[in-house]
Amino acid sequence: MLCRNGGCTMPDLVCIQETLKKYNQEHLLRFFDELSDNKKSKLLNQLSTIDFEKVDSLFRSLKTISIPQGEVLEPLDYFIKNEISVKERRLLENQGTEILKQGQYAVVTMAGGQGTRLGHKGPKGTFELNLSPKKSSLFEILADKIKQANKRYNIQIPWYIMTSETNNKDTINYFESKNYFDYDKNNIHFFIQNKLPLIDTSGNILLRETYQVYEASNGNGNLFESLATNNMVSDMKKRGIKWIFVSGIDNILVKVADPIFLALTINNGTEIGAKTIFKKDPYSKDWVFCKKDSKPAMLGYERITEEITTANIDGRFLYREINILCHLFSIDALEKISNIDLPYHRATKKNTYINNEGMKIVPEEPNSYKFETFIFDSFRFFDNITLLRVQEEKEFAPIKDPAGIYSPDTATKLYLKEEFNSN
Ligand code: UTP
Repeated sequence: MLCRNGGCTMPDLVCIQETLKKYNQEHLLRFFDELSDNKKSKLLNQLSTIDFEKVDSLFRSLKTISIPQGEVLEPLDYFIKNEISVKERRLLENQGTEILKQGQYAVVTMAGGQGTRLGHKGPKGTFELNLSPKKSSLFEILADKIKQANKRYNIQIPWYIMTSETNNKDTINYFESKNYFDYDKNNIHFFIQNKLPLIDTSGNILLRETYQVYEASNGNGNLFESLATNNMVSDMKKRGIKWIFVSGIDNILVKVADPIFLALTINNGTEIGAKTIFKKDPYSKDWVFCKKDSKPAMLGYERITEEITTANIDGRFLYREINILCHLFSIDALEKISNIDLPYHRATKKNTYINNEGMKIVPEEPNSYKFETFIFDSFRFFDNITLLRVQEEKEFAPIKDPAGIYSPDTATKLYLKEEFNSN
């Protein structure tokens, strides 16, 4: 087998050995001689697709993160759903409903994450909740919500689902086994996002198996590039889609087609919108919306001082809007961002790996770095964003951890309460 790198005619193994040596990742071939021919070839194939230069430069850049000097911070304006008058609400609802009825609206669900905190085996969307009298998976809950919107507005919303290489097959098999929740199969599109190797804190790439490098999805910010490279943006355009709602897989109170949010974003003249919740604890580690050098952005908690978190005008706080991953993008905005390289951030995660002795190690504490791009880094490429603050107990019940405020138990209680109230 010959190396496929441009112009290179060395045997795969020799070429890869040289590359690994160059980037101090020779341990990835530690078990090579003990592998079957099939596994040897699998490993070489995978290694030949990895961009070691990129991983190396990401690891190096970790040490040089700095806050831009002289950056001007300002608050971002926001609407509060609860404070919109009944009359205005009705107008917005009617306007948004008319737009939804035109069928130019799509839903994108990001389900490419690893779900490491929850620890569920399989795609997070297959995690089931006991919504007595029946059990429903996160995918089914979302499918039901979109079906309800279809019925209400007499449309067929195209549903785009971002998966990862790790969970794509299982996700599609799951939808098959559930008969696509009776959703029109032609209106569901799966697409696989990009991935990057995980590294330990010294920069060594992890092995998932003796014959497999540990690669994982590279963050929800990869959405834009993946939508475009998998021809989803062109599919949307063919279908005449003008607005796209984007959310994660795990917020079971998400409103997938909210006419008020849609109308408000359009009337406010912005190409992007985000729902927020109020940061009740001013000292929590949540990031908040702001403007940096007059562009929409997020402010990391390490930069949120006492002065910033308490700043208010007549009790209206200036820096207390938390991002809940509920976004609207115009099709033009989506396309624009797909051509932009978003910066990488480092997340620390708990990942089971193979140690130097070939043993599988299940870490007790986070042990690896994952490089991720985030959707919110796209905001600064726009002059403004429409923020709509919603009530947490009505629209935000994400499932992140086995226990605590973002657990299946808490989310289930909120969901059942909301169902009860709306019936
Ligand atoms: P989180 O950042 O909460 O990650 O993702 P997660 O994968 O659900 O869980 P942890 O952090 O490993 O425990 C928020 C949303 O973004 C999606 C997730 O699937 C979830 O819906 N996501 C995240 C992706 O689609 N791709 C990614 O690379 C990362």
